[in-house]
Amino acid sequence: MKITIFGTGYVGLVTGACLADVGHDVLCVDVDADKIARLESGEIPIFEPGLEELVNTNAAAGRLSFTTDAVAAVEFGTLQFIAVGTPPDEDGSADLQYVLAVAETIGRHMNGFKAVVDKSTVPVGTADRVRETIANVLEERGETLDFDVCSNPEFLKEGAAIEDFTHGARFVVGTDSERVRELMRECYAPYIRLQEKLMFMDVRAAELTKYAANAMLATKISFINEIANLAERLGADVEQVRRGIGSDPRIGYHFIYPGCGYGGSCFPKDVRALARTAGEVQYQAQLLEAVEGVNHRQKQTLFEKLERAFDGDLAGRTIALWGLAFKPNTDDMRDAPSRTLMEALWRAGARVQAYDPEAMEECHRLYGDRDDLALVDAREAAVENADALVICTEWKVFRMVDFGWLKQQLGLPVIVDGRNLYDPETVRKAGLLYFAVGRGDSL
Ligand code: UGA
Repeated sequence: MKITIFGTGYVGLVTGACLADVGHDVLCVDVDADKIARLESGEIPIFEPGLEELVNTNAAAGRLSFTTDAVAAVEFGTLQFIAVGTPPDEDGSADLQYVLAVAETIGRHMNGFKAVVDKSTVPVGTADRVRETIANVLEERGETLDFDVCSNPEFLKEGAAIEDFTHGARFVVGTDSERVRELMRECYAPYIRLQEKLMFMDVRAAELTKYAANAMLATKISFINEIANLAERLGADVEQVRRGIGSDPRIGYHFIYPGCGYGGSCFPKDVRALARTAGEVQYQAQLLEAVEGVNHRQKQTLFEKLERAFDGDLAGRTIALWGLAFKPNTDDMRDAPSRTLMEALWRAGARVQAYDPEAMEECHRLYGDRDDLALVDAREAAVENADALVICTEWKVFRMVDFGWLKQQLGLPVIVDGRNLYDPETVRKAGLLYFAVGRGDSL
């Protein structure tokens, strides 16, 4: 099948590479000429395990190519995936200018039937706006060409994107057209041993499914963080509570790990955008607002704990940070808890000495050279001459530590652990003060 994909970000590139890998002919198009040149030379602009090999193997086999030529791209595929970014507007709603610009391009250059597939995370009603945009351009051109627009949201996680795409729980397609149903069946046929994995539904239901899924997951995280904060104050261990509630299959063990708040390009943006959409239809989404509020507060907790450990005086201190990315296996620092912490530390006059296995370059890109930030190349170097250690990301490399050694490194033997990596007893026996999330020892 011939497939065009607009946008070579996370979703576009993973979709393109995975679809090419099962034998489809895929053309990826982007307005960023530099990015396309890098992709053509085999360089992957993002860190995602397995993606480089998948892209390069399929490009070498001739099934996956890249272009900036929008006319050729519209000509190429019967399926036209829109996978461009939808950054938040100033008011928190999704900015659709890139999605609608692609719709305009498709309308401008199509010369036969096209099935347009919204893959970007877009508010309910966007498919109608895409349809309207294409129809208007066709009218301007005096053409009456046939086309359809469907919604096919993506549920992949950064760091596990290929696995999630190929073995995800479901493929959701929102459409009212039998022709599109057939085309999407053909597109995903290689993945669908279990027919029920391909779920057809109404366009608006598909659009809302994407936001509802992310909002539900974010709610689970804010919920357990709320319980953790309570546990901290009540002298209970949230890890025991987590096991206790997770054993009920109606609750389940997944996605109830307490931490220093959710980040990334999706949950914060999508929860806000859905609350905003609710406002537009005169509904106050109280739960969503609370989920967002709890998360905002949770991101401050690392700094607050440090502040209490140092009796409010962090000026001139050096704080070691293990982990900068919003989660392991990515170099993404968008809305990462590490940023809230670093920015608060700098305001308080402290210095940061940080190590992350993948996000160092990204951190440098975001903050540049500054006297109060040292980006070092190993976890050992981060704690050298530091006053305390904070863990922001649960990378594997931070899991095993010689606490005796660590105690010797730190000025004040304090670990603030935003990810509950260690057994509190073991750490405390080694003579360190250990402040995890919801583990009974409130500072
Ligand atoms: C999320 C969803 O999990 C995907 O299903 C969805 O497709 C994607 O957003 C999207 O909309 O594109 P992602 O943002 O890559 O994926 O990251 P997650 O692995 O879901 O983690 C999000 C945040 O929640 C991280 O900051 C993580 O540390 C935090 N988290 C996760 C917790 O604090 N506790 C948990 O139990 C799980």
